[in-house]
Amino acid sequence: MHNKIVILTGAGISAESGLGTFRDENGLWSKYKIEDVATPKAFKNNPQRVHQFYNERRKQARESLPNSGHHALARLQANYADEVIIVTQNVDSLHEKSGATVIHMHGELDNALCSSCGFRWKAPLEMFPEEFCPKCTSPTGRPDIVWFGEVPYKMDSISKHLLEASLFVAIGTSGEVYPAAGFVQEAKLVGAYTIEINLEPSSIASNFAETRFGPATKIVPAWVNEILGKSPS
Ligand code: APR
Ligand code: ZN
Repeated sequence: MHNKIVILTGAGISAESGLGTFRDENGLWSKYKIEDVATPKAFKNNPQRVHQFYNERRKQARESLPNSGHHALARLQANYADEVIIVTQNVDSLHEKSGATVIHMHGELDNALCSSCGFRWKAPLEMFPEEFCPKCTSPTGRPDIVWFGEVPYKMDSISKHLLEASLFVAIGTSGEVYPAAGFVQEAKLVGAYTIEINLEPSSIASNFAETRFGPATKIVPAWVNEILGKSPS
């Protein structure tokens, strides 16, 4: 019997670090059209605009710091007796900055990807059209972000972890985007207990055995203390 905990995080866990979410009131998708900045076609038609969008987010993400929600998850991963797998939809590196290891299913702002040879390298702060690949030298560098219509990364290993989960927790995600929004169902199929931690009910809140509402910086540390059997510090 596994005691593996699988955690899925979304933009809500980075909100209190100053990074915008997507679908909240003045979220990113209220300012930009997805079809202009987050699809392969957008990049083909106007690479400059797409790079500009990610350059702004990369700069903001690089200047941001993890919050107590990120730190609590890193503490859980370091102290829990069994495995704690953190899968994130976020492309910032705040989980890593708090000392956690994480699976990025939607890519990372800090990486650049060559669409010709698949090579990845550390993205410069600003990227421009026809970025040269350091490996094959083609001018085909792009942000290493999974755009709408593309296949998320590491899905095989994520499914394997979900099959072994005894507890699945979704934190700070609206449950609007698949396949991430379907993870709770996969976990339930193997009998895992499921918890949603969010500022307000997501569109899939009813799929969870338990829901806890409030800001991640408050709710996540309290939940981690419970799991680690610690009295609230
Ligand atoms: N604490 C906890 N939850 C919060 C907080 C907070 N301080 N602030 C906002 N939230 C919640 C919101 O209530 C919302 O349910 O975080 C969620 C953010 O939802 P989205 O903006 O839709 O972000 P996310 O679910 O991560 O989006 C998934 O969609 O656009 C794509 O690739 C993009 O990874 C992204 C994916
Ligand atoms: Zn290349």
